[in-house]
Amino acid sequence: MNRPVKNFLLFSFVFLFLCSALRIFLPANETGSFQSLDEKVRNFLERHRYSWRDMNVPEADGRILHDLVTKNNYTRALEIGTSTGHSAIWIAWALSKTGGRLITIEIDEERYREALVNFREAGLSGFIDARLADAHELVEELEGPFDFVFIDADKDWYVNYAKAVIPKLEAGGCIAAHNVHAPRSTGRRWRMGGGDYYEFMVNQPEFETSIHPDSWSGLALSFKKK
Ligand SMILES: C[S@@+](CC[C@H](N)C(=O)[O-])C[C@H]1O[C@@H](n2cnc3c(N)ncnc32)[C@H](O)[C@@H]1O
Repeated sequence: MNRPVKNFLLFSFVFLFLCSALRIFLPANETGSFQSLDEKVRNFLERHRYSWRDMNVPEADGRILHDLVTKNNYTRALEIGTSTGHSAIWIAWALSKTGGRLITIEIDEERYREALVNFREAGLSGFIDARLADAHELVEELEGPFDFVFIDADKDWYVNYAKAVIPKLEAGGCIAAHNVHAPRSTGRRWRMGGGDYYEFMVNQPEFETSIHPDSWSGLALSFKKK
């Protein structure tokens, strides 16, 4: 066998070996093709973009939650109010990059089951500990510590949720809460259920609280000072 033929055969062998090794490390989707986790989540979000109908956060807020987690390198997250899992998917996607994990709580069994299906389809089940429970009780029981908490459940309980998670939140951590409006932003006094929550949080001396300027739904962010 002459040298060019030998080199060609050697190159082909190394190339085929690398291709098959890569396929082993990439997860397979339902159709049998191989893709990275990022691709899988992106495709899932694209497919479901117009199908979130269970009080789920809008895409823009999901993106904000994702970026908060990655930017601050948060790893221990808690979500109160899973519904069918839109916000949890954005948060868990970010946690897949920081090496973290999300506990998310939902009281409604049908939504909880649908969320589990969504987590599996998005490829994120391994990053999510989904609990079917009453958050009024479970949030008290969870030990923590957490560095990121997203409150998006029954609005009249927001202050109680905050009181329960504040001692379990690490310095530098963040509590995000959905559908909260500062009084000046609406011109109405505490019309939204989250109004008393905002008042409560701005009066916590160890927190810096504001409404995210790019959220249309009143996303309150409270950072625990370091
Ligand atoms: C606004 S939705 C959550 C949307 C979700 N974060 C998303 O973006 O996909 C509020 C959810 O909180 C749940 N919820 C209300 N009270 C609850 C409680 N006490 N414990 C747990 N979940 C509760 C509701 O069943 C509902 O599914």
